[in-house]
Amino acid sequence: MLTAKNISKNFGEIKVLDNINLNVEKGSIVSIYGSSGAGKSTLLYILSTLDKPDKGEIQIDNLSISELKGDKLSDFRNDKVGFIFQFHNLLDEFNVLENVCLPGYVSSSNNSDTENKAKELLKELGLSSRLNHKPNQLSGGEQQRVAIARSLINSPEIIFADEPTGNLDAKNSKTFIELIKKLNKKMNQTFVIVTHNKEFIKISDKSYTIQKGKLN
Ligand SMILES: Nc1ncnc2c1ncn2[C@@H]1O[C@H](COP(=O)(O)OP(=O)(O)OP(=O)(O)O)[C@@H](O)[C@H]1O
Ligand SMILES: [Mg+2]
Repeated sequence: MLTAKNISKNFGEIKVLDNINLNVEKGSIVSIYGSSGAGKSTLLYILSTLDKPDKGEIQIDNLSISELKGDKLSDFRNDKVGFIFQFHNLLDEFNVLENVCLPGYVSSSNNSDTENKAKELLKELGLSSRLNHKPNQLSGGEQQRVAIARSLINSPEIIFADEPTGNLDAKNSKTFIELIKKLNKKMNQTFVIVTHNKEFIKISDKSYTIQKGKLN
């Protein structure tokens, strides 16, 4: 479903990614480990089409991402891809329910379906009593769970997650890891997760480590 070929990325003198190849099969869970500064976020941004490599190419569903431009690229992202960022990027002026619904409003004409689905996801993530809170009225872990619900609203085929349990306590981490496993089984959704949390190994079909620009 996703193929990365010969991906390299430098930031000035810093060689962050050095000729990385990765193949992610549809319906699989892939986790990528690495120390702070190893290039995990950089790699995830490139794999998820949000950033461009200096060299190499990304194909999703046999479509070369570099060939998608403008509206085509944004439609592709909105419909097929879910993102959970290391920093949550929630919109401060919207409440929890609205933040989760926004990508759904863009891609679906049925707002009440979107809202019901959002409520369902938020319930699963233990946030039913926070629907009207604004992001600045939430704890870090609650914000993270809102971002998780938002990433799932359009039932994307592939979800990219950057340290998704970084702000969660052990109990909420476990809930999230179980939710991923459940969605993966039920909806055959594909997950690519970069993290320090070794608990993800248990549910991963493949695990890699990024070190000195290489993926092993
Ligand atoms: N826009 C940028 N300009 C210059 N250097 C950058 C930029 N983005 C990242 N870097 C550098 O590239 C390296 C990899 O950064 P990256 O964010 O991918 O690390 P990471 O593995 O996600 O780390 P962490 O676990 O701390 O989130 C770091 O040394 C960082 O300082
Ligand atoms: Mg990072």
